[in-house]
Amino acid sequence: MDKNLLIDALNFRHACKIFDETKKISDDDMSFILESARLAPSSFGMEHCRLLVIKNQEVKKELKPLCWNQNQIDSCNLLIVLIAKHKEVSSPEYYEKMFRRRGLDEDSTKMYIEKYANYLENLKSIKCWSEKQCYITASNIMNYSALIGIDSCPIEGFEKEKVEIKLSIDNKKENIAMLVALGYRANAQSQKIRLDMKDVVTII
Ligand SMILES: Cc1cc2nc3c(=O)[nH]c(=O)nc-3n(C[C@H](O)[C@H](O)[C@H](O)COP(=O)(O)O)c2cc1C
Repeated sequence: MDKNLLIDALNFRHACKIFDETKKISDDDMSFILESARLAPSSFGMEHCRLLVIKNQEVKKELKPLCWNQNQIDSCNLLIVLIAKHKEVSSPEYYEKMFRRRGLDEDSTKMYIEKYANYLENLKSIKCWSEKQCYITASNIMNYSALIGIDSCPIEGFEKEKVEIKLSIDNKKENIAMLVALGYRANAQSQKIRLDMKDVVTII
């Protein structure tokens, strides 16, 4: 594999502020990106994240004022809402099913179930833990989009409760973790600014 291709994609990816509304993402590219999301890792394999893909322009326009009026919201081609399941991942019916699908022997399955139940009990916030998993999914979405020349913007700048109400998301069961807007850039990207490697990494 040419590693430069991957680094080039990471340099190509930037937080795109406005998309070219005339350019559409093909169904084939959308499927590729969504598959990268589906294959993202998750803690204990609980797959906390579900996605709502908004193509409808009217819905995007209605969401824009609830998202700090950011131009990405209605100029993007696809607006992906990453929804963190917190009720389901804490329900024994769900997590037992998720462990049983691995096809392990009964003792190992019971060990996992017990370990997981204990882990949940010690978590400060299941909501926050579930949302963290969505960020990993978002990273796949953005990086795999970049690999095929599609631009993105991660978005945390929105009024969570209002957007949840607008999209009929029951926050007793799920929360929106973040949004990712996808499309093709309207303008050239600005220079990438990062700390030096020595300020980011310590090797011992
Ligand atoms: C979780 C998260 C939320 C973000 N929310 C927004 C946002 O609401 N609006 C925006 O324009 N950029 C948003 N950004 C983009 C960052 O500002 C951007 O990634 C950072 O400045 C680095 O620039 P680059 O991504 O272009 O390299 C967000 C980034 C992340 C990771």
